[in-house]
Amino acid sequence: MFRILESKFITSAVKSDQYPASAFQDFAFVGKSNVGKSSMINTVLNRKAIAKVSGKPGKTRLVNFFEIRFKTLENEDIGFVNFVDLPGYGFAKVSKGDRAAWKKMIMTYFEERVHLGGVFVLVDIRHKADPKDILMIEMMKESKIPFAVIATKSDKIVQSKIQLTCQKLKVGLGLTDQEIIPFSSLKKKGIDKVINWIGSKTI
Ligand code: GTP
Ligand code: MG
Repeated sequence: MFRILESKFITSAVKSDQYPASAFQDFAFVGKSNVGKSSMINTVLNRKAIAKVSGKPGKTRLVNFFEIRFKTLENEDIGFVNFVDLPGYGFAKVSKGDRAAWKKMIMTYFEERVHLGGVFVLVDIRHKADPKDILMIEMMKESKIPFAVIATKSDKIVQSKIQLTCQKLKVGLGLTDQEIIPFSSLKKKGIDKVINWIGSKTI
């Protein structure tokens, strides 16, 4: 539906007054620490390291904004959206104070950001539905924020089990009217579905 032309890092923020004054819609990436949010941003944007990735949980500690320039395939229009890389939740090895600060950063983002085009909620394909993710999904539903659930690291399970695993996760997460999108940054799988989803919310 559309093709990404360019992407650039805009800014990192903690407080809402540090958010960029952009008129474009945001697409935010949320999920537990280490689930693969920053990797997914790099993969979708076809960039090596525009978002910082780490093997250790807790890499992304700020709200990071990226500006994406894209072209629609139908009418050749040029458009813009923002990608927002959020700090992960559920990382055990941080102090109470840090955890509270991260929670505030994430919640502030959802409270303050008005032009939200959609949210990607990332869950690890190998894990059972987590109460923290269920809570996040509940929040999206309540706030009527369009969201898509992504099962990351699909390369970690055998291909033939991906569909059934996503189906089980769907039930576990309490989803009724939407399918989970399997995704692998390692194998570059799921990119088209993600880009089409963004396209369906912007055009
Ligand atoms: P925080 O910033 O801590 O919240 O983590 P994050 O969700 O941004 O995760 P990140 O993208 O930094 O990736 C965490 C680890 O998972 C890194 O070691 C990545 O290389 C690895 N990883 C991410 N995506 C994939 C994937 O699709 N497949 C595999 N096998 N590993 C992945
Ligand atoms: Mg990250």
